[in-house]
Amino acid sequence: MQSFTYYNPTKLIFGKDQLDHLKTEIPQYGKNVLLVYGGGSIKRSGLYDQVMDVLNAMDVTVTELAGVEPNPRITTARKGVELCKSEKIDFILAVGGGSVIDCTKLIAAGAKYDGDAWDLVIKKAAATEALPFGTVLTLAATGSEMNSGSVITNWETSEKYGWGSPAVFPKFSILDPANTFTVPKDHTIYGMVDMMTHVFEQYFHQVKNTPLQDRMCEGVLTTVIETAPKLINDLENFEYRETILYNGTIALNGMLQMGYRGDWATHNIEHAVSAVYDIPHAGGLAILFPNWMKHTLKENPARFKQLAVRVFGVDPTGKTDEEVGLEGIEKIREFWSSLGAPTRLADYQIDDSKIDLMADRAMANGEFGNFKKLNRDDVMAILRASL
Ligand code: NZQ
Ligand code: ZN
Repeated sequence: MQSFTYYNPTKLIFGKDQLDHLKTEIPQYGKNVLLVYGGGSIKRSGLYDQVMDVLNAMDVTVTELAGVEPNPRITTARKGVELCKSEKIDFILAVGGGSVIDCTKLIAAGAKYDGDAWDLVIKKAAATEALPFGTVLTLAATGSEMNSGSVITNWETSEKYGWGSPAVFPKFSILDPANTFTVPKDHTIYGMVDMMTHVFEQYFHQVKNTPLQDRMCEGVLTTVIETAPKLINDLENFEYRETILYNGTIALNGMLQMGYRGDWATHNIEHAVSAVYDIPHAGGLAILFPNWMKHTLKENPARFKQLAVRVFGVDPTGKTDEEVGLEGIEKIREFWSSLGAPTRLADYQIDDSKIDLMADRAMANGEFGNFKKLNRDDVMAILRASL
């Protein structure tokens, strides 16, 4: 293992009917609250009314920012920053999925920064402080509810980048599985693909002696694989939703990644794809990940073999590590297809006409990936295999 310091200050409040915690959490930070949410799902599900009932019973003034887009835009974050400054906001409450939470993170940091919030995303400036914020999560996927990362899109320039800061851990996150009942089947599938890829990004590293981390990663993957087919046929099953919600948080709250750095190359390529084409993050990942795996299999076939045998039940008898690894990769693709995830960029009507722009965006900060460093040729090969 490598030396590490683990820090995660987010208070996780998990289970049915936990909204009353807002009454004790929010007053610690002030009275002027900015409520941030997306395109209306929380109004349709009734969660907006439930949250407002709790807030209205408290001594707080609520300002609203509605309409955060999936793949949240810098333009919306800027609006939020202005509101924080003009309304003297003390605390932000994000109610939604990863996009709403990511946008809230940038608003929180932007409110304490004198320049344009985009500077924080492109790392022209570091986010050293932020307004305090909490979340009520409505979609199991990103882990944003318990990490300090955020991904923001600049649609005008076709750029989408991840940024992060210890200043933007949520103060608390409320996770009620019932709030995810209304997530439609496609986004339920995307969410499960996303959390699996978060584990893959971490599992593929070159650091020695991580037996517990490996088993923890394999445990998350196995649990998603067991639960996913049942959940997509029974979307309002509390126990399946509960299992998947908890998996999503554990997959990306830093717990699995102690003692090594994950790879994260495929996420970088996907962010480049969804910067140019507005597709769901995990739709892109489902297409790209098996191709990244095939491209990097030779870097460490034993690791691919371990995944194939332990998680996907591949029989290794009489086969080379590479053959076993390849069978495992095929099983990942088969599993995601069986759920209904896309397999080719063509499924989103994406052809090779903007492949250079996507590769440029992926290469914005030079070579990347910790399992295997990818250069532009590698990125082009993975994108071409994904067409
Ligand atoms: O906008 P509303 O109306 O709320 O609808 C959303 C949206 O259309 C809907 N939805 C959410 N909860 C719902 C619901 N519909 C019905 N019932 C509910 N309970 O689902 C759609 C997708 O929501 P979104 O928040 O975009 O999905 P997700 O949570 O997958 O977030 C995706 C974003 O997170 C970034 C991605 O790049 C993408 O921009 N990521 C953030 C990460 C992080 N901060 O750590 C890591 C991830 O790898 C990822 O990159
Ligand atoms: Zn992701």
